[in-house]
Amino acid sequence: MDRIRIVGGRRLDGVIPISGAKNATLPLMIASLLTGETLTLDNVPRLADVVLLQRILGNHGVDVTVSGKRSGETADHGQTLHISAARIVDTTAPYELVSKMRASFWVLAPLVARMGQARVSMPGGCAIGTRPVDLLIMAMERLGARIDIDGGYVVARAPHGLKGAEIVFPKVTVGGTHTAIMAAVLADGTTVIENAAREPEIGDVADCLNKMGARISGAGTNRIVVEGVTRLNGARHAVLPDRIETGTYAMAVAMAGGEVLLQNARPELLQAALDALSNAGVSVTPTNQGIRIARNGAGLQPVEVTTAPFPSFPTDLQAQLMALMTRARGTSHIVETVFENRFMHVQELVRLGAHISLEGERATIEGVERLKGAQVMATDLRASVSLVIAALAAEGETIVNRVYHLDRGFERLEQKLSGVGAEVERLSA
Ligand code: EPU
Repeated sequence: MDRIRIVGGRRLDGVIPISGAKNATLPLMIASLLTGETLTLDNVPRLADVVLLQRILGNHGVDVTVSGKRSGETADHGQTLHISAARIVDTTAPYELVSKMRASFWVLAPLVARMGQARVSMPGGCAIGTRPVDLLIMAMERLGARIDIDGGYVVARAPHGLKGAEIVFPKVTVGGTHTAIMAAVLADGTTVIENAAREPEIGDVADCLNKMGARISGAGTNRIVVEGVTRLNGARHAVLPDRIETGTYAMAVAMAGGEVLLQNARPELLQAALDALSNAGVSVTPTNQGIRIARNGAGLQPVEVTTAPFPSFPTDLQAQLMALMTRARGTSHIVETVFENRFMHVQELVRLGAHISLEGERATIEGVERLKGAQVMATDLRASVSLVIAALAAEGETIVNRVYHLDRGFERLEQKLSGVGAEVERLSA
């Protein structure tokens, strides 16, 4: 298994290009199941999760072709995928594939919407908590699907099509909102989704579906209205920039010191995280090319942050902020309210010399003078990258094991960091 070796203490200066968002790309690719025509996606990041989803969609009969590079394009340009679900040959998503990536469960809604049935493995537990799918199933049932659980599979049937309805989520859920929208676009009549997730990736998928002929309004607010249509067509759509990658590199620069332009980043996608960085004393300047992050010499101030659904501080940046706060001048508190067990990085940060204590959903981080490099590993991708951030400020060498987690969600991480001066290399097994 590959490992990443980092030697701390280098300033970061220059430009880091921000890729297309993983968490928009995955549902956009899944939305291709809703039409027999070709969906073309630009600015797709080169990630292990994208490759895995190509395999999962391939199992349903979807053809995915990747365009070659055009002249003038570099590795910094995202890929273009042409996705065609002209003929769906199989409506089963097997355990072996779904268990590797939770978002693949989301094929349920478009398969039922288009084919009237689907059999999708329950995703099971994962390293950041139990993560049930009860609200996704509730949304499908509200739209008239009959659901059975059989041998670890969710079997959904709507032989006469889905029917528009009101769906009220008792808790904000990104996957539940994607599911409700994708099921409703081809349903008979109007669907109203209350307490919908407002994450920017929901808006991006709704924009793409509207280009495909869907009639969705209110995406980005907590009330989304979908008027069902009888069919969708092909379209072309560019994936929005990755706000979690943006926030991750912003924290890396804040940790290491220096001045970096995060090219193509959009501040409105992560205002709460940028505010936390400003409060910590980091200089954050939106420009027409992206966001400029700088910290020169001065120490970091501690912060108080609570994760919550968008537009609040994202859970997907919690581990990275915690890594940063290990070096603050004082005591920070971070409360995780989205997932009940997303603190697997704490023990590994402690191995690097951090002082962190946990009490339920609340972490207390006492800033320390110095971190010291060590061997570490993590169990999910955001936790893994938090160790990379800590390593940038640690004395000596840190080896981050189990790099496949990073490859799931960060495109060319070591090139992007070494391009601005970090001492980072991949050690191939
Ligand atoms: N929940 C339920 N029942 C459900 C669904 C969710 O109780 O049926 C709970 C979850 O257990 C959690 C909360 O609701 O406590 C929110 O979960 P949500 O459904 O919003 O999460 P998700 O859709 O499974 C997406 C992202 C995650 C991100 C969360 C929260 C993708 C592919 N995944 O997951 O991203 O943390 O929203 O913003 O979009 C990552 O990229 O590393 C990642 C984990």
